[in-house]
Amino acid sequence: MNYNKKSIEDIEVAGKRVLCRCDFNVPTKAGVITSDKRIVAALPTIQYLVSHKAKVILCSHMGKPKGEWKPELSLKVVAKRLSELLGQEVIMADDVVGEDAKAKAAALQDGQVMLLENTRYMKGETKNDPELSKELASMADIFVNDAFGSAHRAHSSTAGVADYLPAVCGYLVEKEVSIMGKALANPERPFVAILGGAKISDKLNVINNLLEKVDTLIIGGGMAYTFLAAKGYSVGNSLLDESKIDYCKDMMVKAEAKGVKLLLPIDTVVADSFPSPIDGPVDVQTVAADAMPEGKEGLDIGEKTRALFAEAAKNAKTVVWNGPMGVFENPTLAAGTIAVAQALAESDAITIVGGGDSAAACEQLGFADKITHISTGGGASLEFLEGLELPGIACLQDK
Ligand code: 3PG
Repeated sequence: MNYNKKSIEDIEVAGKRVLCRCDFNVPTKAGVITSDKRIVAALPTIQYLVSHKAKVILCSHMGKPKGEWKPELSLKVVAKRLSELLGQEVIMADDVVGEDAKAKAAALQDGQVMLLENTRYMKGETKNDPELSKELASMADIFVNDAFGSAHRAHSSTAGVADYLPAVCGYLVEKEVSIMGKALANPERPFVAILGGAKISDKLNVINNLLEKVDTLIIGGGMAYTFLAAKGYSVGNSLLDESKIDYCKDMMVKAEAKGVKLLLPIDTVVADSFPSPIDGPVDVQTVAADAMPEGKEGLDIGEKTRALFAEAAKNAKTVVWNGPMGVFENPTLAAGTIAVAQALAESDAITIVGGGDSAAACEQLGFADKITHISTGGGASLEFLEGLELPGIACLQDK
């Protein structure tokens, strides 16, 4: 895929109506934004458009309302936060492509900013309905995609609209693609990838693609137990996807053939059962990965594994990390994920963290400013690591 896309600096925006897709899909609790990271990440592009006298029409989805007008998923809360961050009013539309949105878009003055309602209030959005794409396009002269977190979605507001308007990327998309693209295409070596998370089935293509590129592939989290089973170890009651055991064997053969070091847990923290509630008290013990007792469930990497993984990260020149090492929502089972976050923070390597959970772990632990790049994309950064074409980027004009 060609990542060399035209950006907002390659097109005249002054006096133009610019429809700018952002990823304002931010977490909220009882109507209050709990992390405004994605809004902050969109500011450089919005500020550029404002200072270059564009008429800025922002849009985004929030949650999955599936074509229904769910008030709790309104973007009003984002407009309020964005106004505070920009230091200017963000005019909120009452609809997406309805009368109110169109009237407000038509009345915009140079340098003014408005926000459309949740694009997923429209049934056509996730179907990439050309009628909706045309309606969105009819309000603007230029399309800017700055929603990296949604770039893996072929929806009307992320990709379809580019069929009807000149389409370029914003600074966030440009930054995500250049940092992650360079790491994958031309990494400084040793290049180490650390993958975690619960399900192996989510990471099949990522593992396969990264084995073509890295010097060391580290597997932790729930998905590691299927690899351990593929080695012939008994994994007790740990998360196991039997249908993927052969796949893991193939990946181990592939790693060997490519000369890639594949590191798996050598010890693991086990408990009688998964904690309920997830952050509730849990009795744990640490056992060797090849001696997991029957009836026990592995829920985090052990101390020796933490040291092994941290050492690999320390000696790397590029590290990519996606997915927690254990049930990090529980303080007793967070040590593995903390150890990896800390190892990245202390490493001199170029460090890139993708995926909501690992990114959240770095932020919660206060390591975010010691990481080279924390992606704003969850699914998008995973698909990027898979080497897939992202529709929200593929649709933009090449340089
Ligand atoms: C995300 O949070 O990963 C993006 O906003 C995409 O959201 P989605 O998975 O609902 O498409």
